[in-house]
Amino acid sequence: MKAIYYTHLISVILFLITYLIKTVLLLANKEESLQKYTRITKVPEMIISFAFLVTGIYMITQIPEVKSFMIMKLVAVALSIPLAVIGFKKRNKALAVVAMLLIIAAYGLAEMSKKQGLSQSSPAQPGAEVAAPNGHDIFVRNCTSCHGEDGKLGLMGSPDLTVSALTTDERKEIVKNGKGVMTGFAGILSEEEIEAVVKYTEQLK
Ligand code: HEC
Repeated sequence: MKAIYYTHLISVILFLITYLIKTVLLLANKEESLQKYTRITKVPEMIISFAFLVTGIYMITQIPEVKSFMIMKLVAVALSIPLAVIGFKKRNKALAVVAMLLIIAAYGLAEMSKKQGLSQSSPAQPGAEVAAPNGHDIFVRNCTSCHGEDGKLGLMGSPDLTVSALTTDERKEIVKNGKGVMTGFAGILSEEEIEAVVKYTEQLK
């Protein structure tokens, strides 16, 4: 994972540098130099872009949950490529600059995601701590409207959870798939969260 990550980082930086040089040449109307530069860097650039995309896609497949900034990053990269291609083909300075800003924005988002904790983007690392879901918090957010803080409220015909004789598995089944008026929470809560909240209901006794 580390090797892939560095390959990705290096190819992104090389890609940015070569793109920056091309944009500067375009903006400065150095048509001849731009053509020459494009010709010389054609093959290396293909290799770099390939490495950058493949490692990027591989890394995404390794992330357990794709966050919103990841999606923004993907959209930025996906938009910048056609814009860059058209921008340079038509020698359109505005498009080339917009594409460059998008690539830089994507890079910035990647840096931001790292600050939010590398452990999230490399879950394979042993010893990476994942905060256990808090049963009490989940209960307060999702269940108290009917069951009450203490589990005894009994709104909407819900039974007193403190005297429930159901087993762990039976409770899990009800929380997951619902029963009667109570809606199921599969799809709303993760497996771990359901487990935590069921454990919490058992402590209500
Ligand atoms: C819309 C109101 C409502 C919400 C919200 C709700 N429940 Fe319920 N719950 C009920 C009702 C009604 C029943 C009884 C269902 C039946 O037996 O028909 C029930 C039954 C249960 C039971 C089985 C108890 C027994 O002894 O039969 C458990 C356990 C339970 N709920 C846990 C939860 C948890 C945990 C949450 C939050 C994740 C939750 N409920 C959210 C209304 C609700």
